[in-house]
Amino acid sequence: MNKNQVIVGSLWGDEGKGKIVDLLSSQADVIVRYQGGANAGHTLVVQGKKIILHLVPSGILHKEKICLIGNGVVLDPETFCEELEGLKKANIPVGPDRLKISYKTHLIMPYHKLLDKLREEKKSGKEKIGTTGRGIGPAYEDKVARVGIRAGDCLDFDHLKKKLENALKEKNVLFKNYFDSEPMSAEEVFEKIAPYLETIKPYLADISSEIENAIRGGKKILFEGAQGTHLDIDHGTYPFVTSSNTVASNVCAGAGCGIKVIDEIIGVVKSYTTRVGSGPFPTELTDEIGDHIQQKGSEFGATTGRKRRCGWLDLVLLRESVRLNSITKFALTKLDVLSGLQELKVCTAYRYNSETIYYPPQHENGLSLVEPIYETLPGWTADISKVKTFSDLPKEAKDYINFIEDQLNVPVGIISVGPERSQTIFK
Ligand code: GDP
Ligand code: IMO
Ligand code: MG
Repeated sequence: MNKNQVIVGSLWGDEGKGKIVDLLSSQADVIVRYQGGANAGHTLVVQGKKIILHLVPSGILHKEKICLIGNGVVLDPETFCEELEGLKKANIPVGPDRLKISYKTHLIMPYHKLLDKLREEKKSGKEKIGTTGRGIGPAYEDKVARVGIRAGDCLDFDHLKKKLENALKEKNVLFKNYFDSEPMSAEEVFEKIAPYLETIKPYLADISSEIENAIRGGKKILFEGAQGTHLDIDHGTYPFVTSSNTVASNVCAGAGCGIKVIDEIIGVVKSYTTRVGSGPFPTELTDEIGDHIQQKGSEFGATTGRKRRCGWLDLVLLRESVRLNSITKFALTKLDVLSGLQELKVCTAYRYNSETIYYPPQHENGLSLVEPIYETLPGWTADISKVKTFSDLPKEAKDYINFIEDQLNVPVGIISVGPERSQTIFK
């Protein structure tokens, strides 16, 4: 049976979803993005060549596969067109025969990006979310406020101009009177985006029906999540979150299919924890070990270039991720980065109000009040980046993986020991 899989980030994003999606795409027929936007940065490394994708699904390098962008995505037309150009230069075919965008996908407009930037600038130190500045929050706000511009609006520019005028009414009051910034006219926005919209037009499709037809034809679908579970607008570390539901169940709303379509949910998790942007991070390491992991793991944001904060693996957060997503299998990435550390700490519970708790506190900012409780495991020194089988891993690395499986009661099915496709162990 062709199992349809969801690939979901288990923590705060950048777990290595891009690599895993690229890898598993060889076994799939259709790859679908269902939420988020160009805040995502998914890195693929194939034979030493690195490609970072923000909007186009990570299956695109497999030339015979179909890639779909669902209604739940917020698509920046300019970034999308830039990405198309980059892929064309790399001789990757990106025609509308294999890449399609839902009519219902909301578009990120220049005023969304401006609003995102102005809001972050106006916030003082600790209040800053540290967004990627890609206009994600403002675009989702417009969707919910029912003043959003959608990809299907490309088909009727007169209608689109009226919608732009409507969407700008309130925003211009904010720009002028609150942010002390220049207002935008519908005409100027239209002039800026029109060339990109012309490019997008042929890519429009009924994504829900594409998925249904693929399933009827016995095809296998891979749903590619962006961000991570603890950046989810509802279940994440609110308000230090992104503006979409990142949990696996949003596949259905964001792609246009029913829940019975999903067979397997793969949680991608790094062998340690990272976070970009603000917000609580109980196992964060602000010492030389944190710096070591940051450097050895090249932990820089794929979208913004910011240094990622690094810390030990947090099984409390992962326990909640298993619950929120019904994760059936883990893909554990960047195990090679831990080589050379004498000992490894793993957070198994939190101390909170003099109690030991195994799931994160549920009230806002509760995570900033917990103290991690660690178990210490021995590290290993060998370079494991060329290891091909589980049995060839050092005993301590196997113990580390077994410990995670025992604690979370979920098997680790994929182990990644380097950025290349070949640096992967299937267990
Ligand atoms: P994503 O957003 O979840 O797709 O992850 P990113 O692409 O933002 O960040 C993951 C980074 O780790 C990328 O630079 C990948 O090339 C790299 N990477 C993925 N898996 C491994 C691995 O097993 N080992 C090492 N050393 N790097 C990896
Ligand atoms: P991928 O798909 C890591 C973070 C930002 C910020 C917060 C809100 O590559 O894993 P936003 O621009 O979404 O309003 O920012 O969310 N963030 C990510 N962190 N990986 C991502 O995506 C992220 N997308 C957003 O840093 O803290
Ligand atoms: Mg990323």
